[in-house]
Amino acid sequence: MLNVALPKGRLGESVYDMFEKAGFGCPAIKEESRKLIFESVENGVRYFWVKPSDVGVYVERGAADIGVAGKDILLEYEPDIYELADLHCGICRMVSAGPKGFHDDTTRTLRVATKFSHIAQTYYTSQGRDIDIIHLNGSIEIAPLLGLSDLIVDIVETGTTLKENNLEVIDTIVPISARLIANKASYAFKKEEIDAVVRGIKKETT
Ligand code: PRP
Repeated sequence: MLNVALPKGRLGESVYDMFEKAGFGCPAIKEESRKLIFESVENGVRYFWVKPSDVGVYVERGAADIGVAGKDILLEYEPDIYELADLHCGICRMVSAGPKGFHDDTTRTLRVATKFSHIAQTYYTSQGRDIDIIHLNGSIEIAPLLGLSDLIVDIVETGTTLKENNLEVIDTIVPISARLIANKASYAFKKEEIDAVVRGIKKETT
């Protein structure tokens, strides 16, 4: 039985469809319910819906053999896992953004609001810029509007949230997409099953 951690939400649903097309379906998962674990004995697979930012934890600790996580989560938390494939979905980018016409006063420490403190710190260190990180858990875009921060580091998909809050992209830090990841020990002990998933999914994504 292969244990698979999927990110709860829209991305997870489209990723599950990839698994299904690759021959690892579990029809019960499509039924309306609050259940979080679904199993298909026939296809040898068990799915868990987990919070997207937790997928790396389940996979690193072996509660799941494989999982799907955004590259943003992998860069932020750096779980000790194998990254097996780019699923070419959940495509967006990590950016720095600020009020229109923002001018950086380099004599001051830059205040940056973000959910991605590690990514933001690494990026500004590489730029040689001192920053004060203000760690938030969501609605990052309002921080500069309320004077809580100068800039934000966040994910942009369509750009609508930035636009509607009078913010604009300053720099793209890194492109993001969903990745198939594996627990290191599982990849040794269940290599055949995991490789079959990778092959099936790669067929779907190329
Ligand atoms: C993400 C991100 C932006 C928004 C970007 O937020 O943090 O706020 O999506 O999407 P857009 O460019 O298409 O407008 P999410 O919906 O994950 O909620 P959050 O604000 O709670 O992080």
